[in-house]
Amino acid sequence: MALHWWQRAVFYQIYPRSFADSNGDGIGDLDGVTAHLDYLESLGIDAIWLNPINPSPLDDWGYDVSDYCGIHPDLGDLAAFDRLVADAHRRGIRVIVDLVPNHTSNQHPWFVESRASRSNPKRDWYIWVPGSPDRPPNNWQSTFSGSAWKYDPTTASWYLHMFLEQQPDLNYRNPRVVEAMHDVIRFWLERGADGFRIDVIAGLIKDAELRDNPARAVTDPDIPWHSKGTQDPLHSHDRPEVHDVIREFRRVSDSYEQRILVGETWPREHERLADFLRPDELQLAFNFRFLLARYDASRFRAAIEQTERSFGPGAWPTWTLSNHDFPRHISRYSRDGDGEARARVAAMMLFALRGTPFIYYGEEIGMRDAAIPADRKRDPVGRDGCRSPMQWTDAPNGGFSTSANTWLPCGDFKAVNVARQLNDPHSMLALYGRLIQLRKSTPALVEGSYRAFEGAPEDCLVFRRDTPQQHIVVALNFTAEPRAIAIPAGKILLSTLPDRSNVAKSSLMLEPNEGVIVMLDAKITG
Ligand code: GLC
Repeated sequence: MALHWWQRAVFYQIYPRSFADSNGDGIGDLDGVTAHLDYLESLGIDAIWLNPINPSPLDDWGYDVSDYCGIHPDLGDLAAFDRLVADAHRRGIRVIVDLVPNHTSNQHPWFVESRASRSNPKRDWYIWVPGSPDRPPNNWQSTFSGSAWKYDPTTASWYLHMFLEQQPDLNYRNPRVVEAMHDVIRFWLERGADGFRIDVIAGLIKDAELRDNPARAVTDPDIPWHSKGTQDPLHSHDRPEVHDVIREFRRVSDSYEQRILVGETWPREHERLADFLRPDELQLAFNFRFLLARYDASRFRAAIEQTERSFGPGAWPTWTLSNHDFPRHISRYSRDGDGEARARVAAMMLFALRGTPFIYYGEEIGMRDAAIPADRKRDPVGRDGCRSPMQWTDAPNGGFSTSANTWLPCGDFKAVNVARQLNDPHSMLALYGRLIQLRKSTPALVEGSYRAFEGAPEDCLVFRRDTPQQHIVVALNFTAEPRAIAIPAGKILLSTLPDRSNVAKSSLMLEPNEGVIVMLDAKITG
């Protein structure tokens, strides 16, 4: 089946400040990533996504860009980026970078100019509303907290910031802003980047009249962000016009070969995710309903089946369990159960679903969130725990850095590290390696159709992946008790538990928190 490279690929997200420090300053860097490409290659990774690498005052750790076409000096320079891309490409590993188009840093020269006077040529690059300091222009809330407006006395006007006040929103109704961002896209594609993960993609266009947002009418426990905010971002986010901006980004990206756009997509309603994946828009979009699902078969089933139902043949799913914005899934799943066993089941789900899996660095060794003492906190909204240094060995700083001071504290690298797991066939790392290899050697796991398996217990997630030649059942027991599942005869290709015998009888008995991938002897009819 003719799939694109990004449909077959396993992606690996790297938080560059925390992956590997090559120069001993306590901060990970691009040369550190290059030095570990062997590791990624042997794990079977096809593409990496780098969190923001641009110069930035780091109010939001790089999501506040002050120069779109440079490299933050902590991380290296353009030559280091070129070395990374060249070495990765030599191994057949693609590199995508983070594009943060919704807002800049307030120290970006564009904003410095824009705020200087009402008549500055860059004034209209941001969203300004003249007024008095006592009343913001509307009721929009910042994603982080409080009003999304900041009063600037220099010109007696408010500017919009949907995140921190140091992150003013650009105005995509201004064609010059659109053109400037196209230039940024071209800059990185010319340099060999294979595409972008695009930050806050659904938010790029705001209501032309800046109307008040209505109160949120429904709270849906299956969609965690619905139970959080009290406001429906009707006029500030996921506007119909945003699709025109995305189409233009895609047109620029398609003028280079084989590049991709991956959206950080928070649609207002989850059903609208597929709208971003039309043939002339994004190739991939993160599925946050899946990422944020509690460890519960019915939550995952709902997220997966809704995706399968709404996507249609043109849109391709993306599956992710963790990223740099939320507690790691192994830590979340540990709150009310055996996080390690659950994370193994979740990994099997991740690689066996129909769609492109993204791994967050360290999840392949079962890294947990690090404890961050109050005086070591760096992130203004408390996301440091999941951004701690990669745990390579049991040496000081987990082998991440030779510095006495790492930028964030390390987690428990004595217990959990790459070196220790490399030689342990029962480790999380070994399981990830096997899952990736199995996926690559089993066409049904990549190309096969997805179908729910009828008749399985509700608290298990059981599904089929079929091609004309191969028939697979993936059976995942989300409970802490054994579960029997009646499946046709076949052979167990892999279990999340070590030492499982490999023949499936007509009834499969799953151990507590066990997942298996079974190759059936014959097609299930019906
Ligand atoms: C995205 C990023 C997050 C950042 C925010 C503002 O959600 O993933 O880390 O803080 O955008 O750019």
